[in-house]
Amino acid sequence: LDDVKVGDTFSSTSPMGSFYYNPLFHGTDLVFLAGGSGIAPALSIINDIATREGDFKFHLVYASSYENDVIFDEEIKVLNEKYDFLTVSKVISRPTEGYKGLTGHLNAKFLTQLLGKMTDKMYYICGPTNFHNFCEDQLASLNVKSRRVRIECNGPPKNPENLKGWPAGLIASDEVTVTIKGKGSFKARVDEPLLNSMERNGYSTENACRSGECSLCRVKILKGSVLNPPEAHLRETDEEYGWTHSCVAFPVEDIEIVI
Ligand code: FES
Repeated sequence: LDDVKVGDTFSSTSPMGSFYYNPLFHGTDLVFLAGGSGIAPALSIINDIATREGDFKFHLVYASSYENDVIFDEEIKVLNEKYDFLTVSKVISRPTEGYKGLTGHLNAKFLTQLLGKMTDKMYYICGPTNFHNFCEDQLASLNVKSRRVRIECNGPPKNPENLKGWPAGLIASDEVTVTIKGKGSFKARVDEPLLNSMERNGYSTENACRSGECSLCRVKILKGSVLNPPEAHLRETDEEYGWTHSCVAFPVEDIEIVI
Protein backbone atom coordinates (compact mmCIF):
# COMPACT_ATOMS: atom_id res chain seq x y z
CA LEU A 1 0.00 0.00 0.00
CA ASP A 2 2.94 2.34 0.59
CA ASP A 3 3.56 2.40 -3.17
CA VAL A 4 -0.07 2.86 -4.31
CA LYS A 5 -0.72 6.00 -6.37
CA VAL A 6 -3.96 7.71 -7.38
CA GLY A 7 -5.10 6.13 -10.65
CA ASP A 8 -3.52 2.71 -9.98
CA THR A 9 -5.62 -0.28 -11.01
CA PHE A 10 -6.57 -3.15 -8.69
CA SER A 11 -8.07 -6.49 -9.56
CA SER A 12 -10.47 -8.24 -7.20
CA THR A 13 -12.51 -11.40 -6.90
CA SER A 14 -16.13 -11.25 -8.01
CA PRO A 15 -19.03 -11.08 -5.50
CA MET A 16 -19.63 -14.45 -3.85
CA GLY A 17 -21.26 -16.12 -0.87
CA SER A 18 -24.77 -17.10 0.18
CA PHE A 19 -25.89 -13.90 1.87
CA TYR A 20 -28.60 -12.77 -0.51
CA TYR A 21 -32.30 -13.28 -1.09
CA ASN A 22 -32.90 -16.68 -2.65
CA PRO A 23 -36.46 -16.87 -4.03
CA LEU A 24 -36.41 -20.67 -4.10
CA PHE A 25 -35.99 -21.10 -0.36
CA HIS A 26 -36.52 -17.83 1.51
CA GLY A 27 -40.24 -17.13 1.13
CA THR A 28 -41.67 -13.64 1.43
CA ASP A 29 -41.63 -12.97 5.19
CA LEU A 30 -38.13 -11.60 5.78
CA VAL A 31 -36.31 -10.08 8.76
CA PHE A 32 -32.90 -8.42 8.66
CA LEU A 33 -31.04 -8.01 11.97
CA ALA A 34 -28.29 -5.44 11.41
CA GLY A 35 -25.66 -4.40 13.93
CA GLY A 36 -23.63 -1.23 13.29
CA SER A 37 -22.14 -1.15 9.80
CA GLY A 38 -23.86 -4.51 9.17
CA ILE A 39 -26.70 -2.36 7.82
CA ALA A 40 -24.91 -2.01 4.45
CA PRO A 41 -26.05 -5.28 2.78
CA ALA A 42 -29.63 -4.73 4.03
CA LEU A 43 -29.97 -1.82 1.65
CA SER A 44 -29.03 -3.92 -1.39
CA ILE A 45 -31.36 -6.75 -0.35
CA ILE A 46 -34.24 -4.27 0.08
CA ASN A 47 -33.58 -2.85 -3.38
CA ASP A 48 -33.43 -6.38 -4.78
CA ILE A 49 -36.76 -7.32 -3.15
CA ALA A 50 -38.32 -4.19 -4.64
CA THR A 51 -37.68 -5.53 -8.14
CA ARG A 52 -39.47 -8.83 -7.46
CA GLU A 53 -43.09 -9.90 -7.70
CA GLY A 54 -44.66 -11.14 -4.46
CA ASP A 55 -46.44 -10.21 -1.29
CA PHE A 56 -43.25 -9.39 0.61
CA LYS A 57 -42.82 -8.29 4.20
CA PHE A 58 -39.35 -7.08 5.13
CA HIS A 59 -38.65 -5.99 8.70
CA LEU A 60 -35.31 -4.24 9.12
CA VAL A 61 -34.18 -4.24 12.76
CA TYR A 62 -31.15 -1.98 12.98
CA ALA A 63 -29.24 -2.06 16.28
CA SER A 64 -26.65 0.53 17.26
CA SER A 65 -24.99 1.38 20.56
CA TYR A 66 -25.52 5.14 20.41
CA GLU A 67 -27.79 7.40 18.36
CA ASN A 68 -24.83 8.92 16.53
CA ASP A 69 -23.56 5.47 15.49
CA VAL A 70 -26.47 5.19 13.06
CA ILE A 71 -25.34 5.33 9.42
CA PHE A 72 -27.38 5.54 6.20
CA ASP A 73 -30.14 7.24 8.19
CA GLU A 74 -31.34 9.32 5.22
CA GLU A 75 -31.15 6.39 2.80
CA ILE A 76 -33.22 4.23 5.17
CA LYS A 77 -35.85 6.97 5.54
CA VAL A 78 -36.14 7.26 1.76
CA LEU A 79 -36.55 3.48 1.36
CA ASN A 80 -39.09 3.35 4.18
CA GLU A 81 -41.23 6.01 2.51
CA LYS A 82 -40.88 4.40 -0.89
CA TYR A 83 -41.67 0.74 -0.14
CA ASP A 84 -44.84 -0.47 1.60
CA PHE A 85 -43.33 -3.90 2.22
CA LEU A 86 -40.64 -2.38 4.46
CA THR A 87 -40.84 -1.87 8.24
CA VAL A 88 -37.87 -0.28 9.98
CA SER A 89 -37.12 -0.58 13.70
CA LYS A 90 -34.09 1.35 14.87
CA VAL A 91 -32.90 0.14 18.28
CA ILE A 92 -30.36 1.94 20.48
CA SER A 93 -28.72 -0.01 23.29
CA ARG A 94 -27.11 2.96 25.11
CA PRO A 95 -29.48 5.85 24.49
CA THR A 96 -28.89 9.37 25.72
CA GLU A 97 -31.34 10.64 28.31
CA GLY A 98 -34.71 11.48 26.83
CA TYR A 99 -34.27 9.38 23.67
CA LYS A 100 -37.77 8.52 22.46
CA GLY A 101 -37.14 5.61 20.09
CA LEU A 102 -36.79 1.88 20.72
CA THR A 103 -34.05 0.92 23.17
CA GLY A 104 -32.56 -2.34 24.39
CA HIS A 105 -30.82 -5.45 23.07
CA LEU A 106 -32.10 -7.89 20.47
CA ASN A 107 -32.73 -10.66 22.96
CA ALA A 108 -35.43 -13.31 22.57
CA LYS A 109 -38.05 -11.34 24.51
CA PHE A 110 -37.40 -8.13 22.58
CA LEU A 111 -37.48 -9.90 19.21
CA THR A 112 -40.72 -11.72 20.02
CA GLN A 113 -42.40 -8.47 21.07
CA LEU A 114 -41.23 -6.78 17.90
CA LEU A 115 -41.75 -9.55 15.35
CA GLY A 116 -44.56 -11.73 16.71
CA LYS A 117 -44.51 -15.34 15.49
CA MET A 118 -40.87 -16.11 14.84
CA THR A 119 -40.57 -19.55 13.31
CA ASP A 120 -41.93 -18.99 9.78
CA LYS A 121 -39.72 -16.07 8.81
CA MET A 122 -36.37 -15.94 7.06
CA TYR A 123 -33.62 -14.11 8.96
CA TYR A 124 -30.51 -12.34 7.70
CA ILE A 125 -27.95 -11.29 10.32
CA CYS A 126 -25.05 -8.95 9.67
CA GLY A 127 -22.86 -7.20 12.21
CA PRO A 128 -19.83 -7.76 14.43
CA THR A 129 -19.07 -11.37 15.41
CA ASN A 130 -20.47 -10.93 18.94
CA PHE A 131 -23.65 -9.48 17.49
CA HIS A 132 -24.32 -12.30 15.06
CA ASN A 133 -23.41 -14.95 17.64
CA PHE A 134 -25.83 -13.36 20.10
CA CYS A 135 -28.67 -13.04 17.58
CA GLU A 136 -28.13 -16.59 16.34
CA ASP A 137 -28.42 -17.91 19.92
CA GLN A 138 -31.57 -15.87 20.57
CA LEU A 139 -33.23 -17.17 17.40
CA ALA A 140 -32.27 -20.75 18.27
CA SER A 141 -33.81 -20.29 21.73
CA LEU A 142 -37.04 -19.28 19.96
CA ASN A 143 -37.00 -22.51 17.92
CA VAL A 144 -36.06 -20.82 14.66
CA LYS A 145 -34.45 -23.51 12.50
CA SER A 146 -30.86 -22.81 11.43
CA ARG A 147 -31.87 -23.17 7.76
CA ARG A 148 -34.01 -20.06 8.26
CA VAL A 149 -30.99 -17.99 9.32
CA ARG A 150 -28.35 -16.53 6.99
CA ILE A 151 -25.29 -14.90 8.54
CA GLU A 152 -22.83 -12.59 6.82
CA CYS A 153 -19.49 -13.38 8.47
CA ASN A 154 -16.61 -10.98 8.76
CA GLY A 155 -13.49 -13.08 8.86
CA PRO A 156 -12.36 -15.66 11.40
CA PRO A 157 -13.57 -15.48 15.01
CA LYS A 158 -11.55 -13.39 17.38
CA ASN A 159 -10.36 -14.89 20.69
CA PRO A 160 -10.75 -18.53 19.59
CA GLU A 161 -9.63 -19.59 23.08
CA ASN A 162 -13.19 -18.74 24.18
CA LEU A 163 -14.77 -21.09 21.65
CA LYS A 164 -16.47 -24.32 22.58
CA GLY A 165 -14.02 -27.18 22.01
CA TRP A 166 -10.85 -25.20 22.77
CA PRO A 167 -8.52 -27.67 24.55
CA ALA A 168 -8.25 -27.15 28.31
CA GLY A 169 -4.87 -25.80 29.36
CA LEU A 170 -3.94 -24.48 25.90
CA ILE A 171 -3.12 -20.77 25.96
CA ALA A 172 -3.50 -18.40 23.04
CA SER A 173 0.22 -17.67 22.71
CA ASP A 174 1.20 -21.37 22.53
CA GLU A 175 2.82 -22.55 19.32
CA VAL A 176 2.54 -25.82 17.42
CA THR A 177 4.39 -27.25 14.42
CA VAL A 178 2.58 -27.25 11.09
CA THR A 179 4.07 -29.64 8.53
CA ILE A 180 3.06 -29.34 4.90
CA LYS A 181 3.61 -32.72 3.33
CA GLY A 182 6.49 -32.66 0.87
CA LYS A 183 7.10 -28.95 1.30
CA GLY A 184 8.33 -28.06 4.79
CA SER A 185 7.21 -27.03 8.25
CA PHE A 186 6.88 -23.96 10.43
CA LYS A 187 5.80 -22.84 13.88
CA ALA A 188 2.29 -21.38 14.21
CA ARG A 189 0.41 -19.73 17.05
CA VAL A 190 -2.63 -21.71 18.10
CA ASP A 191 -4.87 -18.62 18.08
CA GLU A 192 -4.00 -17.64 14.49
CA PRO A 193 -6.04 -19.04 11.59
CA LEU A 194 -4.05 -21.68 9.73
CA LEU A 195 -4.23 -19.82 6.41
CA ASN A 196 -2.70 -16.69 7.97
CA SER A 197 0.23 -18.58 9.45
CA MET A 198 0.73 -20.48 6.18
CA GLU A 199 0.92 -17.20 4.27
CA ARG A 200 3.24 -15.71 6.86
CA ASN A 201 5.58 -18.61 6.15
CA GLY A 202 5.44 -18.47 2.37
CA TYR A 203 2.69 -21.05 1.66
CA SER A 204 -0.82 -20.47 0.41
CA THR A 205 -3.98 -21.96 -0.99
CA GLU A 206 -6.62 -20.47 -3.19
CA ASN A 207 -8.98 -18.35 -1.07
CA ALA A 208 -11.67 -15.70 -1.34
CA CYS A 209 -14.09 -15.10 1.55
CA ARG A 210 -11.65 -15.80 4.41
CA SER A 211 -14.72 -16.39 6.57
CA GLY A 212 -15.29 -20.13 6.26
CA GLU A 213 -18.01 -19.84 3.61
CA CYS A 214 -16.65 -20.54 0.15
CA SER A 215 -14.41 -23.58 0.83
CA LEU A 216 -11.73 -22.46 -1.65
CA CYS A 217 -9.08 -22.64 1.08
CA ARG A 218 -9.71 -26.30 1.95
CA VAL A 219 -6.68 -28.28 3.13
CA LYS A 220 -6.57 -31.90 4.20
CA ILE A 221 -5.39 -32.78 7.69
CA LEU A 222 -3.23 -35.91 7.67
CA LYS A 223 -2.15 -35.88 11.32
CA GLY A 224 -3.29 -33.98 14.40
CA SER A 225 -6.39 -31.82 14.55
CA VAL A 226 -7.64 -28.26 14.23
CA LEU A 227 -10.46 -26.44 15.96
CA ASN A 228 -13.22 -25.69 13.45
CA PRO A 229 -15.40 -22.80 14.67
CA PRO A 230 -19.10 -22.54 13.75
CA GLU A 231 -18.06 -20.16 10.92
CA ALA A 232 -16.45 -23.12 9.10
CA HIS A 233 -19.27 -24.28 6.87
CA LEU A 234 -17.88 -27.78 6.44
CA ARG A 235 -19.79 -30.48 4.65
CA GLU A 236 -20.28 -33.73 6.54
CA THR A 237 -17.98 -35.47 4.09
CA ASP A 238 -15.29 -32.81 4.62
CA GLU A 239 -15.24 -33.57 8.32
CA GLU A 240 -15.34 -37.29 7.69
CA TYR A 241 -12.30 -37.21 5.38
CA GLY A 242 -10.29 -34.62 7.32
CA TRP A 243 -10.76 -31.52 5.15
CA THR A 244 -10.85 -28.15 6.85
CA HIS A 245 -11.30 -24.52 5.82
CA SER A 246 -7.87 -23.15 6.64
CA CYS A 247 -9.04 -19.51 6.80
CA VAL A 248 -10.98 -20.17 10.02
CA ALA A 249 -9.26 -23.32 11.38
CA PHE A 250 -7.02 -23.06 14.43
CA PRO A 251 -4.16 -25.58 14.76
CA VAL A 252 -4.53 -26.61 18.39
CA GLU A 253 -1.84 -29.31 18.19
CA ASP A 254 1.00 -30.33 15.86
CA ILE A 255 -0.51 -31.08 12.46
CA GLU A 256 0.50 -32.38 9.06
CA ILE A 257 -1.51 -31.18 6.08
CA VAL A 258 -1.64 -31.44 2.30
CA ILE A 259 -2.26 -28.31 0.24
S1 FES B 1 -11.45 -18.63 1.89
FE1 FES B 1 -13.54 -19.09 1.78
S2 FES B 1 -13.77 -20.73 3.19
FE2 FES B 1 -11.74 -20.09 3.42
